[in-house]
Amino acid sequence: MARQFFVGGNFKMNPNTKAQTLALAELLNNAQLDPNTEVVIAPPSLYLIPVAEKLNKPVELAAQNAYIKTSGAFTGETSPSQLFEAGIPWVILGHSERRVLFQETSELVAQKTRAALDTQLKVILCIGETLEERESGKTVEVCEAQLKHVVAQLKPEDWKNVVIAYEPVWAIGTGKVATAAQAQETQAEVRKYLAKGVSPAVAEATRIIYGGSVTASNCKELATQPDVDGFLVGGASLKPEFVDIINARK
Ligand code: G3P
Repeated sequence: MARQFFVGGNFKMNPNTKAQTLALAELLNNAQLDPNTEVVIAPPSLYLIPVAEKLNKPVELAAQNAYIKTSGAFTGETSPSQLFEAGIPWVILGHSERRVLFQETSELVAQKTRAALDTQLKVILCIGETLEERESGKTVEVCEAQLKHVVAQLKPEDWKNVVIAYEPVWAIGTGKVATAAQAQETQAEVRKYLAKGVSPAVAEATRIIYGGSVTASNCKELATQPDVDGFLVGGASLKPEFVDIINARK
């Protein structure tokens, strides 16, 4: 069965006003979006509910993080069940900014993935290597090491609620996009790892998307690759060109 093309918009800690954030929702409301693309946007948590109320398109919402517990003394955290109860169906986990700036380990990311899935959230799980790791030929090893903990925590049936985002750290926010061949090569390896570590059926069905300096001008070529099932977009998700990226396969 063909995997549905998936485009996520990770707004990160942008924009810094509610009005600007709602304007991005309005942009999607007024656009012609490819009905074959699943679209999920992740505004800052404070704006999740206003944006959900504003959208009149089949665009779903994602939080940019969630904790491993349901409730308790965890100052500053949001629980997966609070998100689910608020009608937010998705969460981004393991983004490199959280791994690097907030010291999240692959083990914690796996625990968060388990907790989110247990709460019926769907997960956009980010993995990816640094430039140094790529240059020393460790790209696949690093991606597998990051995935290994998640593979250990999940049952085969959990994977239908997971999208893997391959985001090379050197391509994030740098304007230095991976070539279509680089994205394809790594994503095919990730799929092979799923086939070996979980099952060939899960590997075949799981969406593996690419993130890192995706723009309207490079998305079409990337989207032709057989193992590129969509994108996780940062900077360009804050601009009108996000619509062109959603429509990359149109
Ligand atoms: O999660 C999306 C991301 O990190 C890529 O960001 O700005 O390079 O598209 P950007």
